[in-house]
Amino acid sequence: MKKFLDLGIQPLANSYLKRKDLHKKEKKFNLSAGFDKKNYLVSILRTIPKEKMFNKDYPYKSSESKTMRMAFKTLAKKIKKRFDPKLVVEIGSNDGAFLFNFDKKKAVGVEPCKNLAKKTKKKKFKTFSEYWDINLSNKISKIGKADVIYSANTLSHIENLENVFKAINILLSENGVLIIEDPSLLKCLKNNAYDQFYCEHIYIFSTIALNKILSKHGLILFDIENLNTHGGSNRYYIKRKNSELNKIKYSVKKEIYKETKYGLKKLETYEKFAKRVRSSRKKLLNIFKKIKSKNKKIIGYGATAKSCTVLNYCKIDKSYIDFFYDTTSYKINKFLPGSKILVNKYKKLDAKTDDYVFLGAWNFKHEIFNKEKKFIKNGGKFITHVPFPKVI
Ligand code: TYD
Repeated sequence: MKKFLDLGIQPLANSYLKRKDLHKKEKKFNLSAGFDKKNYLVSILRTIPKEKMFNKDYPYKSSESKTMRMAFKTLAKKIKKRFDPKLVVEIGSNDGAFLFNFDKKKAVGVEPCKNLAKKTKKKKFKTFSEYWDINLSNKISKIGKADVIYSANTLSHIENLENVFKAINILLSENGVLIIEDPSLLKCLKNNAYDQFYCEHIYIFSTIALNKILSKHGLILFDIENLNTHGGSNRYYIKRKNSELNKIKYSVKKEIYKETKYGLKKLETYEKFAKRVRSSRKKLLNIFKKIKSKNKKIIGYGATAKSCTVLNYCKIDKSYIDFFYDTTSYKINKFLPGSKILVNKYKKLDAKTDDYVFLGAWNFKHEIFNKEKKFIKNGGKFITHVPFPKVI
């Protein structure tokens, strides 16, 4: 494993602080990323025990984003039409945004965060509030084999990938389909989106790396879709090698070609990325300093886990950003970890009072710009660091 990026000392990204805990010492760790030349796998080098990240206080709820709800609805429709599954199992079912599109007799959720599992259980969807592993897979297999196993933004959060895929192999039916969705490493590098690295994102998958892991487990990619979610993700369709299902689509070859051409098999590509990241930090900080020197006000929009990496890496704190706006009920009136910037309940932006707005949720840029048309029209400005620091 060769380290290529050091993002400094960071708190746990989703550990928003209550006012009464502001004086307490936060748990911090060194966030750095490395490249495994043998498996072409990119991962963070120090990991945090899963129980510290995925527990009853997990703040992220898929249902709170309209974009995500719509994406899940469309996908569920497509899955029914294309694969007609008798049983769908979702690993990381969150608060049910995907699962609720299925008949409750045909869908099972896996969600270790009890606050979220409660939501699907309440609607009578069978939900296992446990971490995904071989034991759990054996348990679920007793209900039946899964024709579709779906997992979005979850498998990259689990350290032991051997165990993950062995467990999948137990549960997947003979001609079953595994559908995985995760941020694309290629997009992350192209966007200089170093904030895809934080404690929960243990891996950022490339198709090349994923392919290697799958082949060890008798699994094979047969289709890929490029998505806009989470700043650029891939949806991977996977089957057993001896499955009778679909032929391998050209999309697989194309994605691997794109990734190889960009250099995802070479350490040098990652070292160049790290250089761009260091320059991005310098430029972003200069933008903030320049604005502050004119006594203008900056607020943040979308208190994301991603912005935690940016703020702590660039050492941007409340002397630069007055507060963040966010729509997530759990985050409101809490403080961002590390930078300790307050999160306020979302209010429509007003160019009279808000001069500059840092886009923490840059992955929802279009949705946000649409919502804040008036602010933009009245001369309000946004600051983003993706793909490079600039004022919009
Ligand atoms: P998300 O994209 O899941 O980022 P991460 O995985 O890095 O935490 O989170 C988006 C956050 O942005 C979420 O807290 C909700 C917030 N948000 C708003 O406050 N307003 C909006 O209009 C949008 C689209 C998001």
